[in-house]
Amino acid sequence: MSVPKPPKGLFIKTYGCQANVYDSERMRDVLAPLGYAPVDSAEAADLVVLNTCHIREKATEKVFSELGRLKEMKQLSGGAMRIAVAGCVAQAEGQEIMRRQPAVDMVVGPQSYHRLPEMIARLSRQTGDILEVDFAAEEKFDALPKSRQVSGPSAFLAVQEGCDKFCTFCVVPYTRGAEFSRSADAIMAEAHELASKGVREIVLVGQNVNAWHGAAPALEGRGGDWRLGNLIRHIARIGFERIRYMTSHPRDMSDDLIDAHRDVEALSPFLHLPVQAGSDRILKAMNRQHTAADYLRIVERVRDARPDIAFASDFIVGFPGESDKDFEDTLGLVKAVGFAQAYSFKYSPRPGTPAAGMQLQVEEAVKDERLARLQALINEQSQAFNTATVGRRLPVLFSRAGKHAGQVLGYSPYMQSVHVENGAHLSGLVAQVEIVGASMTSLTGRQERISVVNQEASA
Ligand code: 5AD
Ligand code: SF4
Repeated sequence: MSVPKPPKGLFIKTYGCQANVYDSERMRDVLAPLGYAPVDSAEAADLVVLNTCHIREKATEKVFSELGRLKEMKQLSGGAMRIAVAGCVAQAEGQEIMRRQPAVDMVVGPQSYHRLPEMIARLSRQTGDILEVDFAAEEKFDALPKSRQVSGPSAFLAVQEGCDKFCTFCVVPYTRGAEFSRSADAIMAEAHELASKGVREIVLVGQNVNAWHGAAPALEGRGGDWRLGNLIRHIARIGFERIRYMTSHPRDMSDDLIDAHRDVEALSPFLHLPVQAGSDRILKAMNRQHTAADYLRIVERVRDARPDIAFASDFIVGFPGESDKDFEDTLGLVKAVGFAQAYSFKYSPRPGTPAAGMQLQVEEAVKDERLARLQALINEQSQAFNTATVGRRLPVLFSRAGKHAGQVLGYSPYMQSVHVENGAHLSGLVAQVEIVGASMTSLTGRQERISVVNQEASA
């Protein structure tokens, strides 16, 4: 009688953006047929994958220090542990990783992880190259398993990959390659698969997700080209409770997408729309291809379509040549919009990008001071936004357990995180919650008056 093989432990650590979160999930799908099952720590794993981010220097450095720790674990395991580096650092610095950290067994770029099974086989035979950094997004999506393992009520679905915008500070066009949109047919099939597995919220992801475009699926009859707004309308018909998309570029906020915010009830009233800066001079130097006034006009149009929409954004301070006046313009834009959330970063010169070679790099101390001022303003706005929801009843999607027993965490339609005590039974559900408290980063909901919206999910 054959004895079933024990599962092999897989630990994937994900850095960076939502595209990486999606890729990590798909790596799990790719590796499952080989007997790999997720474990909770690197120590317990036979294979550790670092799915890396190259966007800023700090993100890259974290990878090398984590590899140092893994090397020691590998030695303790007698060399049995396998280490793979995936993601954008793998793409950009594959050879360098192999040279700097010999404990690494495999390097696989974001377009090549469907080849992990054959790489592992080659590794066990100790033959051939174990560095895969080809650019072929189309091939990758075709090769990934059609079935997806889901965990929790929310799932990411990658609709496009790469970027053609070439902002002068950004490595993405080099690490993720040219813009590639998956076909509407393939996306709809994956959305149906997720719905059949009980997913309630679908998040369409891509580096420049609103650049998505494609031919209408054959079944839709009339043909023609779709943009993201059309796709969202059709995905909504499947019956998800929530639909989101990220991350977007202001230039691609087309009419169909703004209309979808007006017409599609399930489309969350939340838009993450990075602007990066509020000075036209700096926006030009960044090659953003829009002005501050263009951005404000878009905000106004989206607000007209969906008055309760909450905005989030990304900012870079200390871009080369940024003067005090330029920075004041950024603060002015933040005040004009009123953000629910925003991420702000000090400019980090990235090898190979045009801005890294620009004159007039801003001193670190000036960047620190500007970052602190910008973050103080954003924090004020987040606190004000959150405080304004106290006393309201909001539908909350509860996605996971909180830190202490019985606590459950979820998020509001405006992407505020909400925690409720004694609510473990709500996990995986959307429930109406009375908001009773607010901090800068989260809300407290009251359980007494909770009514469950989608009871069947608890079955
Ligand atoms: N330096 C600092 N921040 C950057 N980002 C992208 N590239 C850089 C860089 N070189 C920020 C942008 C982007 C977010 C994902 O990371 O704000 O929107
Ligand atoms: Fe990078 Fe600009 Fe493309 Fe965003 S739009 S991924 S910032 S190049």
